[in-house]
Amino acid sequence: MADQKKILCVGLVCLDIISVVEEYPEEDTDTRCVSQRWQRGGNASNSCTVLSLLGAPCAFMGSLAAGPVADFVLEDFQKFGIDVSLVSEHAQCVSPASVVISNIRTGSRTILHTNRDLPDVTAQDFSRVDLAQFKWIHWEGRNAGEQVKMIQQVEKFNAQLPNHQRIGISVEIEKTREPLYELFPYGDVVFVSKDVARHFGFDSPEAALRGLYPRVKKGAVLICAWAEKGADALGPDGLLLHSDAFPPEMLVDTLGAGDTFNAGVLHTLSNGGSVQDALAFGCRIAGRKCGFHGYDGIREK
Ligand code: ADP
Ligand code: FRU
Repeated sequence: MADQKKILCVGLVCLDIISVVEEYPEEDTDTRCVSQRWQRGGNASNSCTVLSLLGAPCAFMGSLAAGPVADFVLEDFQKFGIDVSLVSEHAQCVSPASVVISNIRTGSRTILHTNRDLPDVTAQDFSRVDLAQFKWIHWEGRNAGEQVKMIQQVEKFNAQLPNHQRIGISVEIEKTREPLYELFPYGDVVFVSKDVARHFGFDSPEAALRGLYPRVKKGAVLICAWAEKGADALGPDGLLLHSDAFPPEMLVDTLGAGDTFNAGVLHTLSNGGSVQDALAFGCRIAGRKCGFHGYDGIREK
């Protein structure tokens, strides 16, 4: 029943309070926006949303506070049929949230994020996961030290299985935070963002992949998405793969484009697709996503 196995995404869920504007506001002005909405956010949570819209059974593992924001988030997970049985509640904590200014003229998204005291899940929490339920586990890089220990648990589990039954492991290194770079040598698939690439002094996905590949483990695939330039990947054979972006007719909302891309890649690879197909599919759905608000329009036609 390998096909019934789920994809697990470990990372953040937060509230996104999104104000849609036609022009980026001047500081210290009072403007009316086109619309405002609450949306469930966080990289791992957004990737789950997209996976579920693609029809892939998935689960989210992360922390949640209590109260109306947490209720909104949980209800939304349920609406999308995302398994939340691995969510740990921290009733005394404040829910993380982002205020997002989403500019429909340019599609840009400006994020102001706060996370006061919600702890990330630990390796000890993870040790209670029934790994046999999953065909792929993706980590959004956060508390890297703990995440390394979680990945090692999966590697141990994998070691006793034949190749085709092993759980795929991916990590995302998105933020330019030194401790996250510890994650490079873990994961069969490593997503590195253009922010991190630039931080290392690379000004193109090709340069970033060639320059950062020595950091990944033997046999791994390193992937770098680069907005309107599409995305590239480099594997052990040294061949650089590329997909162009699929720009929508109108660029409306790029919030979560990267999370959508990641979900498209995970969906393809966890179904046995090639890296080239994964890049193309990731770019296709991420491009489509940029043409409308939120994620609902992603559903495969
Ligand atoms: P994020 O900033 O959300 O992490 P990225 O810039 O890494 O997103 O982009 C992820 C993917 O989304 C890209 O590979 C591309 O396929 C798509 N994408 C993002 N921005 C655009 C854009 N302006 N036009 C077309 N596709 C885009
Ligand atoms: C988009 C996103 C938002 C969230 C922010 C956190 O990639 O996950 O949903 O507010 O990033 O950094």
